[in-house]
Amino acid sequence: MFETLKAQAPDKILSLMAQYKEDPRSTKIDLGVGVYKDASGLTPVMRAVKSAEHALWEAQDSKSYVGLTGDPAFSDAMVKLVLGDAVPRNTVAAAATPGGTGAVRQAFEMIRMANPKARVFVSDPTWPNHVSIVQYLGIEMVPYRYFDSETRSVSFDAMIADLKTATKNDVILLHGCCHNPTGANLTMDQWAEVIKVLQETGATPMVDIAYQGFGDGLDADAEATRAVAAAVPECLIAASCSKNFGVYRERTGILMVVAADTGAFALNQGTLAFLNRQNFSFPPDHGARVVTMILTDDALRADWQAELEDVRLGMLELRKQLAGELKRLSNSDRFDFLAEHRGMFSRLGTTPEMVEKLRVDHGIYMVGDSRMNIAGLNANTIPVLARAIIDAGI
Ligand code: LMR
Repeated sequence: MFETLKAQAPDKILSLMAQYKEDPRSTKIDLGVGVYKDASGLTPVMRAVKSAEHALWEAQDSKSYVGLTGDPAFSDAMVKLVLGDAVPRNTVAAAATPGGTGAVRQAFEMIRMANPKARVFVSDPTWPNHVSIVQYLGIEMVPYRYFDSETRSVSFDAMIADLKTATKNDVILLHGCCHNPTGANLTMDQWAEVIKVLQETGATPMVDIAYQGFGDGLDADAEATRAVAAAVPECLIAASCSKNFGVYRERTGILMVVAADTGAFALNQGTLAFLNRQNFSFPPDHGARVVTMILTDDALRADWQAELEDVRLGMLELRKQLAGELKRLSNSDRFDFLAEHRGMFSRLGTTPEMVEKLRVDHGIYMVGDSRMNIAGLNANTIPVLARAIIDAGI
């Protein structure tokens, strides 16, 4: 029967990973998949994660099932981390999911269940897997303008104009911080405008926050998500621990559903449990447990925050160095946007042909839309990349 299947196009980000691996050049530079790397190219296990895993190994006496929505202590810790005190805890239904992708998938499923005609507005561009999952689920997608490829900043007026066309039957997907793939983010004043549009249209916001702590700091990165949640009756939040805890392969994420009042909580919580059961039953526990241990222990938490802050500042420094080197070589400020962007990514703003040329000629791997993972750079590769960009005439 399977001969009826049609070959699926490979995921562009993940196939780039494989291509990079196969490239024999020792000078190759990986700016592809969104994984943090230190100066030596390693994606380290964070210190607090190692300590928590060690303690867990000592203390854990069962691997029996936990619960369909995961350990409630994980939900409590994550709701606090992401939402702070923005909304009453008893209005937030939450379920652990396999990574941030699992949370995104469950959110879309919940939307479709609630209203099969709901449209999902996504930024143009957005993380390709948003588009892929929305389409896979047969949900209508409406792109909204987001990125100005001239200034490499947010095309704010166009964004607002497009968002105003949403209705109360629609969902608007927003990146809570560190926009993927562009690196261009809204100011808090601009978020206030977006919130006004959400209130005027009655559209339901869905916030994807996968990089909290990678932009301007743990609380600063959550500020917009908190403001949105506090300002509207209902919202969905998909959060990931993959990057800020470095637990990529453990698949640790959470979907939160904020309700207008405590009345809807039970229905939302029950729906999340049902959806988990249909798709995978129990969510992975190991990463979630480690994250909970870190967030609820003062010493582990302090160590985690310190290491995360080092990671964040390290990426900011790389941004500054790259922008500085390009300023020097180009004798212009047209690459200053690299220092303005936040998070792991920046969209360079060049053609797929140019991206391909950088790969073929220099072994520089970035996603076809010219998204670069800034964490893939180090002091030695910055001059190489800058020179290649200038020589290519970008
Ligand atoms: C990315 O955007 O590179 C990451 O979120 C990894 C992924 O799953 O695509």
